[in-house]
Amino acid sequence: MIAAARAMPATLLLLAACKPPPEGRHPMAGADAAAGRAVVERVGCGSCHAFPDIAWPRGAVGPDLSRFASQTMIAGRVPNRPDLLAAFVRNAPAVVPGSAMPAMPIDEAEARDVAAYLYTLGAE
Ligand code: HEC
Repeated sequence: MIAAARAMPATLLLLAACKPPPEGRHPMAGADAAAGRAVVERVGCGSCHAFPDIAWPRGAVGPDLSRFASQTMIAGRVPNRPDLLAAFVRNAPAVVPGSAMPAMPIDEAEARDVAAYLYTLGAE
């Protein structure tokens, strides 16, 4: 699927530009943003990223995620969709080949919670 997606950049840009209403924008059924924030703290995402509600650490290896919910793309390469985000935070190089973000030691349910938390950051 990813290979097919990479072969259709124009289509992806059109999809990414098509925004549903804010409240239904990033549905993460059954995911828990508060649990996701706890996972982010536990595995140390802050050593590489700045989060608005995590005081320390505030790393700068990766992008500042303070307004992540309003981004239309993940790592500038794939559409910012719940399924792709959950896959990315768990194993970034599998979703975005060559990504400098390492795979993280979290399971699929934790990845969905983390994605739900990321969608609270800078949500309009
Ligand atoms: C060792 C450093 C490192 C760690 C730890 C890390 N990341 Fe990343 N992250 C990066 C880098 C570098 C990028 C940019 C990757 C790219 O552009 O391909 C990135 C990109 C991202 C993005 C996309 C940002 C954007 O602007 O599109 C998200 C979301 C993200 N990381 C979330 C997380 C979460 C959540 C965790 C913890 C589970 C985490 N990262 C742990 C280094 C890290």
